[in-house]
Amino acid sequence: MLVGVSQVVAGEVYEGAEKCKTCHSAAAKGEPYKVWAKQKHRQAYASLASDEAKKIGKEKGIDDPQKSEKCLKCHETAFGVPAAEKGKKFDETLGVQCETCHGAGGKHVAARLKEEDEEEGEPKLKDISAKGEITHLPGPDVCEKCHNKESPTYKPFDYVKFVKEIAHIDPRRKHAADWIDKLPEEVKKK
Ligand code: HEC
Ligand code: HEC
Ligand code: HEC
Ligand code: HEC
Repeated sequence: MLVGVSQVVAGEVYEGAEKCKTCHSAAAKGEPYKVWAKQKHRQAYASLASDEAKKIGKEKGIDDPQKSEKCLKCHETAFGVPAAEKGKKFDETLGVQCETCHGAGGKHVAARLKEEDEEEGEPKLKDISAKGEITHLPGPDVCEKCHNKESPTYKPFDYVKFVKEIAHIDPRRKHAADWIDKLPEEVKKK
């Protein structure tokens, strides 16, 4: 269910968005990978090479924002996480990826791969929220780790408005169209 908020799950290893793509790009599932790939989070690392980024960097005495922890900590996934906790194909240049919001996917990927092997035919929609594999609905606490005044380009953060911009809802789940507006106040303000 799309209630609860980020009970962020310790998923062991960060696999990277290309791994998630293998199971999360079908149109029938709301194609989260394709939605993400077209949005700004995907560009977060690349945009540290823009003229604007260089200008911001210069004012702070940073030569190359793509190499500075002062910028990377919010512009890439799993910044500062040891290599042993990242999958072999994990690619930092893909910017703010799935696991920034959903938590490390190692346990989830392993469990889903195993189940696929045991199943015949097209896999059916499963409710895995209760299994504690991965965070289903990342709440404002997750976003505000980066969407805060430490960002040199800070735009006032509004959870409901911003989530709508990045929405990648699974149509099979039949959420009410206005589910986000109906989240309890304590969730929206958390
Ligand atoms: C790891 C840091 C990080 C986290 C966590 C994060 N974001 Fe972002 N977000 C960014 C960065 C960086 C950009 C700008 C990327 C760029 O333009 O290069 C961005 C851009 C956006 C934009 C586009 C804003 C615009 O100016 O067009 C939206 C909408 C957004 N984020 C929503 C969210 C929501 C909702 C959450 C939580 C569910 C979230 N973000 C979590 C770093 C983060
Ligand atoms: C081997 C296939 C597979 C891979 C790889 C995979 N997933 Fe999933 N994922 C599933 C299945 C199956 C579900 C259950 C919903 C459904 O049937 O689509 C699911 C559900 C989810 C959910 C909803 C959780 C809930 O509580 O309902 C999220 C969020 C998610 N995946 C994120 C990811 C992320 C992030 C990655 C990459 C690190 C990833 N998945 C990789 C198969 C996969
Ligand atoms: C605390 C997290 C955080 C840090 C640190 C951070 N950024 Fe960002 N950055 C964001 C977020 C979030 C956005 C999306 C817009 C906003 O709210 O600032 C963003 C957007 C941007 C953009 C795109 C602006 C646009 O119009 O889309 C540029 C360029 C940028 N940042 C450069 C930098 C540089 C250079 C540094 C290092 C000096 C840096 N950022 C450090 C979080 C951060
Ligand atoms: C910036 C944060 C953020 C990023 C990055 C992100 N998600 Fe999500 N994801 C959310 C939020 C918030 C929700 C709940 C609202 C929604 O469905 O859009 C969600 C919901 C989901 C769901 C459940 C959909 C449903 O209707 O129940 C799946 C599956 C999922 N994401 C997979 C992914 C995958 C795969 C990627 C990367 C390709 C990804 N997400 C990237 C924040 C994020």
